[in-house]
Amino acid sequence: MSNGVGIARAYPNMALVKYWGKRDEAMMLPAAGSISMTFDTYATTTRVELDPTAQSDTVELNGQVAGGDAAARVVAFLDIVREMAGSQSRAHTVTVNEAPTAAGLASSASGFSALAVAASRAYGLDLDQAALSRLARRGSGSAARSVVDGMAIWHAGDTDVESFAEPIDAPDMRLVIVTVNAAQKAVSSREAMRRTAATSPFYGEWVTCTEETLERMVAACASGGVDEIGRIAETHALRMHAVIQSCDPPIRYLSPRSHEIFDAVAALRDAGTTAWATADAGPNVAVLTTPAEADAVAGALADLGTVRVVGPGHGARAIDEETARAAFD
Ligand code: DP6
Repeated sequence: MSNGVGIARAYPNMALVKYWGKRDEAMMLPAAGSISMTFDTYATTTRVELDPTAQSDTVELNGQVAGGDAAARVVAFLDIVREMAGSQSRAHTVTVNEAPTAAGLASSASGFSALAVAASRAYGLDLDQAALSRLARRGSGSAARSVVDGMAIWHAGDTDVESFAEPIDAPDMRLVIVTVNAAQKAVSSREAMRRTAATSPFYGEWVTCTEETLERMVAACASGGVDEIGRIAETHALRMHAVIQSCDPPIRYLSPRSHEIFDAVAALRDAGTTAWATADAGPNVAVLTTPAEADAVAGALADLGTVRVVGPGHGARAIDEETARAAFD
C-alpha cells in the first residue's frame, strides 16, 4: 500500500559499546557488535516522494539542495530500495535535522534510519523492524540501531540477514550531551575506520576487545547497574579513541576541552555522583547518568559546553503529513 510518498522521523543514538571497523564495506557488515541508546531529542524528519517522470533524484537538506557526497549517499541508498522494490522511479527527498549541524550533532544514524522508513514506504515495501534495521545499515552502520526504541543491540552477523539491531532491556538512564565547538572538520567516521583497520597495529586487539566488551555490557544491562554500564562504556570509548589515535597518519577526535570534560566527570564520580563519559567521532562528550541525577550533572558541566539532557526515545517510525509539516515549515 503506497501512494508514492513516505514520511518518517528518527533520532540519533549514542553507542555505549562502539562500532568502529567493518568486516565487509560493500554490505556494511561491522567487525563486531555494538550497543546504543536512541535519543528522544534532535529529530530528523524525512519525506520521500516518487516522481516517475523525473530523470534523476533530488535531495534537499535543511532547506538547501544537497550535492556532493551527501546527495550521492542518498541516491546510492535509494538504488538499494529501488532494487528491492523492482522500481525505476526517481524520487524527491526532503530532510530536516533539528540538531545544530555546526555543533556536529547532525547524525547519519538519524538520517539513514529516517530515510529507510520513508523510502521503503514510498516504494511500497512492507518491512518489519529487523528488515528496516538491515536496510538502514546499508546507508550508515550506526543507523541500524536508530530503528530501535531506547537501548539497541546490533548483532554483527556474518551475512546481511544476520546483521541487524533489536531492543535490549536496560535500566532507565539519561545522557547529558556536552557540545563542544569543533574547530575544524574532522575526518569522516567511514574514512577513519578504513584508516584504523589498514594502519593501526592494534586494530585486531580492538576488535577482540569489543567482542568481549559487548558480552560484559549485555550482562551489565541485564543486571541493571548504571555504574557498571557506565564504567564499561567509558573504558571502551577511551579504547576506541586510543586505536583511532594509533592510525598512520593519526586522527584525534577529542579536543583539550573533551579531556577536561572527562576529568570533570571523574571528579563528579569522586563526589558520589553517577556519571560516566563517552564520545563518538568528534569532540562532543555524552555523560551517562541516572534520571534523578541528570539535571545536577548537566548543571555541573554547563561551564564546559552547551549541555542538553536526552533520554531514551523512539526508533525510526512513519509519521503523517500533518505532524511533518511543523518540521518542514
Ligand atoms: C564513533 O555509522 O557514522 O559513532 O557506517 O561508515 O556510515 P558508517 O559509519 P558511522 O560510524 C559511527 C561510529 C561511532 C560509533 C558508533 O556509533 O557505534
